[in-house]
Amino acid sequence: MIEPQARHVPVLFEVAIEFLGVRPDGKYVDCTLGLAGHAEGIVRQLGSAGRMIGFDRDPEALELAAARLDRVRAEMGRRAPKLTLIGEAFSRIADHIAPASVDGILADFGVSSLQFDEARRGFSFQADGPVDMRMDTRSGPTAGQVVNEMSERELANLIYEYGEERRSRTVARAIVRGRPITSTVQLARIVASAAPPMKFGQIHPATRTFQALRIYINRELDEIRDLCEAAPKLLRPSGRFVVISFHSLEDRICKDSFREGARQGIWNILTKKPATAGEEEIERNPRSRSAKLRAAEKQ
Ligand SMILES: C[S@@+](CC[C@H](N)C(=O)[O-])C[C@H]1O[C@@H](n2cnc3c(N)ncnc32)[C@H](O)[C@@H]1O
Repeated sequence: MIEPQARHVPVLFEVAIEFLGVRPDGKYVDCTLGLAGHAEGIVRQLGSAGRMIGFDRDPEALELAAARLDRVRAEMGRRAPKLTLIGEAFSRIADHIAPASVDGILADFGVSSLQFDEARRGFSFQADGPVDMRMDTRSGPTAGQVVNEMSERELANLIYEYGEERRSRTVARAIVRGRPITSTVQLARIVASAAPPMKFGQIHPATRTFQALRIYINRELDEIRDLCEAAPKLLRPSGRFVVISFHSLEDRICKDSFREGARQGIWNILTKKPATAGEEEIERNPRSRSAKLRAAEKQ
């Protein structure tokens, strides 16, 4: 079996590390450790006076990230920076970090390949699993509860808003008629039969509905809004905020927040246009196709 770390390729790795501008004695936060690909890059650039703080609300991810970063630090020996890992949502960042105390904050939003590839986590319809989709498996309703219990109207609104699915009403009606829904493949089939692809070669018709459910149950957009608000307060002057998003809803929040911050004299935007993956990276890692990286410096 391939180790999960080996399967996971950090997206826009070099660009992200470059924009963070890691100083060996600096203090950096990775809000989304995942399998710690980016975090390893940061840790390796830090020295013994440096410090890295990592967040992930998925206990399984946090454990794997801890194991990987411990190995890296053991390898670095006396040069290793201090490391603190926090198993909470990054919207709580200000509870753990003092104002104006960090040099860089990185966030690589969305689901990790570990979460996506693991059928039992319920994020994917390629492999059959329970309809779960919680990043934090310790709390909150599952996507299964939402598809089985929410009213048709609310479901339609959710699928429209977070999935940008124009056929949301048809999809919601089919979901309600298809209850009880117990597996991801069953859910995907119901959605696909209600809203078949309109053109050959389009994305799987369930993609938007799965995205909507995932965003809803993990409060993903609120989390990003909270982080965008907290980041400038936690950074020191000249500190960097680097975000990687994977769809337009995530990217829009960051773009608007950066622009508003620039207007108020808080941010100096470093990416006039977002950085994206080149052909070679997309070939190596198809997930990077939709990635957009934005970076800003605290004024
Ligand atoms: C795309 S992966 C990050 C991959 C990571 N950069 C790497 O190189 O391995 C996103 C990770 O962030 C976590 N995550 C997403 N939203 C979060 C939030 N609001 N708070 C804390 N962790 C979150 C997920 O559980 C997932 O493990």
